[in-house]
Amino acid sequence: MFKPADSSITLSPLIANRWSPRSFDRRAEILDSDLEAILEAGRWSPSTNNMQPWRFIVAKRGDEHFEYLSKHLAGFNSVWAPNASAFVLVLAVTTNDDGSTRPFALYDAGLASAFMTVEANHRGIAVHPIAGFNRDQVKAQYELPEHLVQTAILVLGSQAPASELIDEGLVERENAPRVRRQLSELVIAGLPEARERPSWAIPA
Ligand SMILES: Cc1cc2nc3c(=O)[nH]c(=O)nc-3n(C[C@H](O)[C@H](O)[C@H](O)COP(=O)(O)O)c2cc1C
Repeated sequence: MFKPADSSITLSPLIANRWSPRSFDRRAEILDSDLEAILEAGRWSPSTNNMQPWRFIVAKRGDEHFEYLSKHLAGFNSVWAPNASAFVLVLAVTTNDDGSTRPFALYDAGLASAFMTVEANHRGIAVHPIAGFNRDQVKAQYELPEHLVQTAILVLGSQAPASELIDEGLVERENAPRVRRQLSELVIAGLPEARERPSWAIPA
């Protein structure tokens, strides 16, 4: 299904056409070369002081990691996400060796996730990020230390028609239009769009 952004200005097709589907083809497999390229895109994203504070747990349908992560999905994510071909759990290294915090680690991990999403879409692989999973169970499963913070799981695979989703609510969500706030709500200062200022905007 095609759900391009209804943007006021023409955007790069990679940005405009990205969206987060829930209907994945449960027969489709992801090529190792594609998965590697997606991770490589994350590797090459920018980060604070080039610290690269991202780590990945990679799971392909059929392997033990996919089984573990599938078990720990929350709510309706457990219905649709296991049909995907792979998961990449993105973790952020939130402290330095001396124990001091890295305030931008989550930002950096988010950037790496965005880069991986773009590379995946470029290769015809759909991506749906999810935060709905049981972090305590995943932490215990992989014996993760405190400073390795779980961000989101990127659910990767081949899109299937919305009709393949068995749950009616999910079909409705799949067909729903993609919506966004207006730029005038987002730009606090610095552009003509900022003139209609929300109440919490910084004073002129
Ligand atoms: C960090 C993060 C966590 C998300 N968690 C979930 C989730 O647990 N389940 C889900 O169905 N979608 C989840 N989403 C997807 C968002 O709902 C989706 O990106 C948003 O509605 C915008 O839709 P679009 O990506 O199709 O443009 C998450 C997205 C992000 C960035």
